[in-house]
Amino acid sequence: MISSSKTSLRNKVSSRLSRTLFGRKFQNPVLLAAGTAGFGNEIAGVTDVTRLGGLVTKSISLRPRAGNRSPRVAEFRGGMLNSVGLANPGVARVAADDLPRLLRLAPPAQVLVSIIGFQLDEYAARSEERRVGKECRSRWSPYH
Ligand SMILES: Cc1cc2nc3c(=O)[nH]c(=O)nc-3n(C[C@H](O)[C@H](O)[C@H](O)COP(=O)(O)O)c2cc1C
Repeated sequence: MISSSKTSLRNKVSSRLSRTLFGRKFQNPVLLAAGTAGFGNEIAGVTDVTRLGGLVTKSISLRPRAGNRSPRVAEFRGGMLNSVGLANPGVARVAADDLPRLLRLAPPAQVLVSIIGFQLDEYAARSEERRVGKECRSRWSPYH
């Protein structure tokens, strides 16, 4: 009895929190900011990723990036500063490995892929990018 009323309260709260954005339903408005959860692996052991509204991936560049030299992180009394330099394994590896794994792990939480470039043509349709685009569109975009 208690557990069924808890469930119905949870369902009511859930439906009030849900939002539709870009034609996609987010079960709540809580998103993890770009890169703070990488591609979801590290955080999966401590947080139930499926309960989030969504998570924004670590930013991905066309080619792998080693990022900045250490020190990349400095703590101070009020918080933490980081300058990782957008280190990432590059689009091809992410499309083949990290993204499919995250897309299995996260739903119904939405996955937003952050893509970075340093010149306009890096955003244009190149083969590696098409792989990421295709992977994303086929799994979660209503616009394919
Ligand atoms: C460990 C860590 C990794 C991050 N990686 C990225 C990243 O890959 N791409 C990006 O655009 N922002 C990245 N950020 C920045 C966050 O997305 C966010 O903008 C930043 O933490 C500031 O959040 P705030 O505006 O809520 O204070 C990263 C932040 C942290 C702490």
